[in-house]
Formats: sequence, C-alpha cells, structure tokens
Amino acid sequence: MELQNERKVYQSNELMEAHVGNNPFPLFTQWFDAFRALQTDDATAMTLATAGQKGPSARIVLLKNYSTEGFEFFTQYTSIKGQDIDKDPRVSLLFFWRELERQVSIQGTAVRLTDQENDEYFYTRPIESQAGAMASHQSHPVASREALLDSYTTLLEGCIERGRGIRPASWGGYRIVPTAFEFWQGRPGRLHDRLYYTLSEDNTWSFIRLAP
Ligand SMILES: Cc1cc2nc3c(=O)[nH]c(=O)nc-3n(C[C@H](O)[C@H](O)[C@H](O)COP(=O)(O)O)c2cc1C
Repeated sequence: MELQNERKVYQSNELMEAHVGNNPFPLFTQWFDAFRALQTDDATAMTLATAGQKGPSARIVLLKNYSTEGFEFFTQYTSIKGQDIDKDPRVSLLFFWRELERQVSIQGTAVRLTDQENDEYFYTRPIESQAGAMASHQSHPVASREALLDSYTTLLEGCIERGRGIRPASWGGYRIVPTAFEFWQGRPGRLHDRLYYTLSEDNTWSFIRLAP
C-alpha cells in the first residue's frame, strides 16, 4: 500500500522554553489535563515497551495513578511484560495525544507496588473484573474461549457468594520511576519542538532542546 502522499501539517500548538520549568511533572500534568479535557476515549492509555529475552515488545496499559514518585499501572506479574521486567526493569512509556499533536515519551525503572497497594486497588474493581483477573493467566496459552469462560463463570459465582474476589498473588501493579521525559509538539515544516528532560545524580531535573 502506497502511503507516501499521506501528509499532515502539525500547527496547533508550540512548546517553548520560556513556558516550561526545569521539572517535567508540571508540564506532564498540563498536557495530560489538556488531553483529558477533550474527553476522548482511553485518555489514560499508554504504550509500555519492555526489553525481554526474546527481544523488545510493546503493548497498551492503562495509567491508574501518577505523582512525582512515578506512573502506575496494573497487570499480571507472570505475563510477558512481567517476565521482561523481572529480567530488565528499564522500560519506556509512550503517550500519543493525536488531537493535540503531542507525544510524551518516558524512560524509567519499573518497581512492583506493595501487596497492600495491590489489594487497595484490586478490591475497588468491579467483581466481574476481579473474577476475570482470577480466571486469566495473562499471556499463557488457553485451550479455548469456552474453557476460559467456564473457569471465569465458576470463579465469578464464588466471588458473588463471597461478596468479593481473591486477588491472585500474580496480579498487581508497577510504578515506573522516571529517569527521562521527552515532550514532542508537532510544528509546521516538520520543525517539531522536542524538549528532553533528564534527572541528574543530585536528583534535579534539567532539559535541553533536541532537533526534530
Ligand atoms: C485500551 C487497552 C487497555 C489495556 N489495559 C491493560 C492494563 O491496564 N493492564 C494489562 O495488563 N493489560 C492491558 N491491556 C492489554 C495489553 O495491551 C496486553 O495485551 C496484555 O497486558 C498482555 O501483554 P504481554 O503479553 O505483553 O504481557 C490493554 C489493552 C488495551 C488495548
């Protein structure tokens, strides 16, 4: 399929040094809030890239919390991404906010949340999601859709009787503690703005401009 003539002009915003500080978190919040205000679906969706033994891989996960401590999502520790992180906790997160012509790329280190933090979130989820997490050994082969559904139905009945699920030990969250951010703003003529923030050894942030 020839796509050479599909061109978009990026011109809705700019990203200038005078409008940002040395700490990347306020800028992240400003951009994240601007995107959420558009009320598009899945504003919290982000790509998580890991480097595993079988090579790099990427997938979407949902951001559930963030602060200056890091960016949190929930998953199964025994999934492919979980196995990758066990081998190499250095990961990358990527947000693409198409309507604002923006991308934010984050590099960081993944650390597991505590059992208490995992429980706190798990039991706020709908009971169907709790049963789903109990029934699914994420990223492992299943015999058939029917087999998965049978297991889910049985587990859901138990959850309803009990009034809640039981968090599998393999289900939990990660916090990505960032070491670098890149903010990308599309601009005309492919002269895009890119500000690259890094954390120095004395724990202070600074940024430079990168060529587009
Ligand atoms: C919109 C969207 C949201 C998703 N959110 C999550 C999530 O929060 N956690 C998760 O484990 N998988 C989520 N997934 C599924 C993952 O993309 C992926 O298929 C799954 O985690 C298995 O990945 P792995 O085999 O690389 O570990 C989501 C997928 C989509 C499309």
